[in-house]
Amino acid sequence: MRAHAERAQISPGQESRARAVSHSATLIYMPTDHEPVLADELTDLLAPAPGQIAVDCTFGGGGHARRVANALGPKGTLIAIDRDPGAEARFERFAAEAPCRTRFLGTDFAEGLRTLRGEGVRPEMVFMDLGMSSMQVDARERGFSYSYDAPLDMRMDTRQEFSAADMVNEWLESRIAQALRRFGEERYAGGIAREIVRRRPLRTTAELVDAVKAGMPASARFGAGHPAKRTFQAIRIAVNGELDSLDDALPTAWSMLPVGGRLAAISFHSLEDRRVKQFLAARAQGCVCPPELPVCACGREPEAELLTRRAIAPEAAEQASNPRSRSAHLRAAVKIAEAQTAGSAA
Ligand SMILES: C[S@@+](CC[C@H](N)C(=O)[O-])C[C@H]1O[C@@H](n2cnc3c(N)ncnc32)[C@H](O)[C@@H]1O
Repeated sequence: MRAHAERAQISPGQESRARAVSHSATLIYMPTDHEPVLADELTDLLAPAPGQIAVDCTFGGGGHARRVANALGPKGTLIAIDRDPGAEARFERFAAEAPCRTRFLGTDFAEGLRTLRGEGVRPEMVFMDLGMSSMQVDARERGFSYSYDAPLDMRMDTRQEFSAADMVNEWLESRIAQALRRFGEERYAGGIAREIVRRRPLRTTAELVDAVKAGMPASARFGAGHPAKRTFQAIRIAVNGELDSLDDALPTAWSMLPVGGRLAAISFHSLEDRRVKQFLAARAQGCVCPPELPVCACGREPEAELLTRRAIAPEAAEQASNPRSRSAHLRAAVKIAEAQTAGSAA
């Protein structure tokens, strides 16, 4: 390992974070800050081949992108999207060494996909690895983590104006409670929202954690996991409009794929996974006639074949070595037919 790390000018301290990437017969070692989750499984499902176009909607540290790029070869193209301006610097490093053509769109993936579709791009695969990156969580000053005291921020796109501080200090109590319920499935949403409003203005993550603890019964503070986990998840999802982006992006991504193209998504909580599951299941559904009809009258044909009947979860070894992977669920489907236009069925 040391010899390879020296060849790629990686310091000994970075060695443990260097990931081996196979490209043709050679091995290239590149440093990465973010351990990609379910990387082998994702690459197997996408089955990238030389000359193809791949869209990585959530570039992050480029862990998944590197795997895919190595299979695309010099005639292939890896298009990366990420709304975090920090991802662009990491992309530049990736692009300098990538074995394929590359392109970066620094925007929300729903918007980025629409741009690509408008240009007539027809990728053989689109994939997304949802949520936050380790770099975002570890950048204390960005306020994503309840473990560090930091300003209330939580914006993935730091050019965006609206932050966690705006949400907790300006929204009506009922709206905060609704967001905690909807995006965090927080049982004590009402009490927490009341406490947040009573303590305004809140400026830091530590103040938010205190408000959460005060807003729930004492017995609930000592249950499984950190008491503020669900509230932080809810506020992050609301600040970044994560579920709306996903709802917007899935149909756009699907519409861009040619027949044979693949869509894959890794999600980290049930709200995301449910959306991906339902979206793919709806495309994989054929006839929707009532069972009592003797013959099909709807003429509906499936557009998708599911590549994962049940979501794929990381093996125990990955869960042990990368705790962030524990809640990951991977789903994928291949397009087997174009969508039927109105009137084409039956
Ligand atoms: C879990 S990380 C991806 C890690 C990446 N797959 C890797 O291997 O390094 C998620 C990344 O997606 C970005 N992201 C999340 N939602 C996004 C959205 N709606 N539009 C664009 N980027 C998004 C985040 O900024 C973050 O960098």
